[in-house]
Amino acid sequence: MFGKIKSFKQEGNKLFIQFEKNIVNVEIISSSIINFFVPLKRKERLSKAIENLKIEQCKFSVENKKERVTITTDKLKINVFDNFKVDIYDCHGNILCEDYRGDRNPFIRRGVGNAWEVAASEGHELKDDGSKLKVQVLKKMEKDMYFYGFGEKTGHLNKKGYHYKMWNTDEPKPHVESFEALYKSIPFFIGLKEKQAFGILFDNTFESHFDMGKENSDYYYFGAVDGNLDYYFIYGPSIRDVVSRYTDLTGRTPLPQLWTLGYQQCRWSYVPEQRLMEVAKEFRSRDIPCDALYLDIDYMHGYRVFTWDNDKFPNPKKTLSNLKDDGFKLVTIIDPGVKKDKGYKIYDEGIKNGYFAKDKDGIPYVNKVWPGDSLYPDFPNEKVRNWWAENQKIMMDYGVSGIWNDMNEPASFNGPLPDDVMFNNDGVITDHREMHNAYGHYMSKATYEGIKKHTNKRPFVITRACYAGTQKYSTVWTGDNQSLWEHLRMSIPMLMNLGMSGLTFCGTDVGGFGFDCTAELLSRWVQVGCFTPLFRNHSSILTRDQEPWAFDKQTEDINRKYIKLRYKLIPYIYDTFWKEESNGLPVIRPLVLNYQEDKNTYEINDEFLCGENILVAPIVEQGKATRVVYLPNGNRWIDYWTKETFEGGKYIIKEAPLDTCPIYIKEGSILPNYPVQNYIGENKIKELILDVYPSAEDTETQYVHYQDDGESFEYRKGVYNLYEFSIKGIEGSKEGIIIKINKSYKAYTNDYISFKFKVNNIKPTEILADGNSIDFKIVDEYVEFTVKDQEEISIK
Ligand code: GLC
Repeated sequence: MFGKIKSFKQEGNKLFIQFEKNIVNVEIISSSIINFFVPLKRKERLSKAIENLKIEQCKFSVENKKERVTITTDKLKINVFDNFKVDIYDCHGNILCEDYRGDRNPFIRRGVGNAWEVAASEGHELKDDGSKLKVQVLKKMEKDMYFYGFGEKTGHLNKKGYHYKMWNTDEPKPHVESFEALYKSIPFFIGLKEKQAFGILFDNTFESHFDMGKENSDYYYFGAVDGNLDYYFIYGPSIRDVVSRYTDLTGRTPLPQLWTLGYQQCRWSYVPEQRLMEVAKEFRSRDIPCDALYLDIDYMHGYRVFTWDNDKFPNPKKTLSNLKDDGFKLVTIIDPGVKKDKGYKIYDEGIKNGYFAKDKDGIPYVNKVWPGDSLYPDFPNEKVRNWWAENQKIMMDYGVSGIWNDMNEPASFNGPLPDDVMFNNDGVITDHREMHNAYGHYMSKATYEGIKKHTNKRPFVITRACYAGTQKYSTVWTGDNQSLWEHLRMSIPMLMNLGMSGLTFCGTDVGGFGFDCTAELLSRWVQVGCFTPLFRNHSSILTRDQEPWAFDKQTEDINRKYIKLRYKLIPYIYDTFWKEESNGLPVIRPLVLNYQEDKNTYEINDEFLCGENILVAPIVEQGKATRVVYLPNGNRWIDYWTKETFEGGKYIIKEAPLDTCPIYIKEGSILPNYPVQNYIGENKIKELILDVYPSAEDTETQYVHYQDDGESFEYRKGVYNLYEFSIKGIEGSKEGIIIKINKSYKAYTNDYISFKFKVNNIKPTEILADGNSIDFKIVDEYVEFTVKDQEEISIK
């Protein structure tokens, strides 16, 4: 396909290598990121994932020998050989990623005669999609490799040995390990090889395939059915570096509004108005915090987007304002499908302006979704996005606080959209094959921009379909899971991989969407949901009720306990989001992300970290009340409930009856807590609570807490506060510690008046704040005291 290297040219950070049959552009994005681009379809690199490519001016050298071009940066050495074979080394000469030199040699699916037909007659289907690729890159499988990322895929954390397809798919069948595609396409993965990590973003929106050593364990490959060969190699060496660089490239989840981190309750559907209000009332009367309620498709007039069914909601503005008075924010669903209906404003405007995707003859394309015959807005076109963004005002004027974008794979009930449905991608006329995977991305972008414009607050958008980079615009949920233990189990690696693929703000339907939930399953699921960035309970029409009180008192108490725990942890989760905006590290993380040196963490599917300090090891099996917990090496860990300390690098057995989710806090942690409220903003938080887990060592640990107005973009102008807390053992004293409080940055005026400390596992005889003795109280395993402006506290 390429042949021998014929010539080579350099223009700034770009190299153009002319092969006998093709030209390859190699662009040095930074010393750790290299782009390889072959214009097989189009001359330019028209990325949907990357909007503002930043080139870091860095030193590099290029050497051109006859059969190879060598590029050396501070971090990498890249050899490009004849036939466009690329080998990448770290700066010490260790191979990181080597192109495979042979041809693909898939295993044989054995069967005699017309085996495929015979198998299919009983419904057994096997797909081998990897054969139709026009673009493909084969990499040698190195020894000891692990793969992570790929966005939302079923199965385990480590993707080695599996084949995945990127083709956004609305999948109502119970999601199982063998599925190759679901709603989202994030063509990005991380390779971990002998403790060194790198990432590859294969930026191609056509149907693409990733085979991680399934068809042959000597190589792995990625490829697509069409489009350019366009991939970014992103060096680590830590997974943290890779994720940070990948999110720098494709964008990071912006800081959300604080209320979006509260508990959210959804159902298909809370209608009519009385039912919605009843649910709201239950939360408040049962003392279960809740911030958001959702309206699913039935609130609309005949499923016409941007309308209300006035029989069910006679006065939506009033309903929303009543809800607001009680602290509830309302999120409404808006699907892409616009009902084909003359006289309906959205349809008429779309037709008049040519805003819908067209068939090959230029006629607006019609398929079927909830409203019946419907048309698909041409979201890849900026003009259409602007129109859609304007329409958000309709919902915002009613007082809606967030928009839920569903069915944007795009889904269709009348067979898939044909390949030749045409879109106008900001001036480039293209077809469904290229736009399918980016459709949800563009819809989210339009929604985000509309909400931003009309509210000037940080938009809350939740989408089902997306592409790499959608994290800039939207929260995601993992679509139609079911109330199955298997789906609770699977949600953990799925969310961890979404987080490592840039989609920090993610969650599953807590309790499961399809099928009927059980009391025990909901109890265990809420224990996981409590630590996932998006904490939303959702269930399908006709399934049994699944609200926190829908079963029995015990289940309700467990729901209340964990929802309240979530409200305590809100400032900690918010801090993690704030840090994410500058470092790209997700809220929900696999242990390997923080403990790459500890090989025991590489394949842990049923434990996760929430930010830097909290390890969660939930029970994900029916009837189980004990489990083995692995505590990673490098830290000591404290049981959140019993305050017992454990060494890291060990497996322990934890008893966990139904009301207990095993939670461990990293020794040395300082966790900011809020008092529990019915909803975020119910009370002005004047006192920050600090839950402290001192280290037995003399080492100093620090925690930076961030505070702002929780809703506007003022923080981008510097209107926020930073509080740096540190703890250190007092030298020579067995138990004594010193805590320092440093209000290191102050620009937001509504700051805290006092700090209430709860220092665990310490029984002091005296506490001095700036040298003066203060009152304290010993409660169970901790000591409690309050300070105001003092900066140094010594606990003896
Ligand atoms: C889809 C969504 C689900 C929603 C339903 C009705 O199945 O995934 O969350 O409730 O449509 O709108």
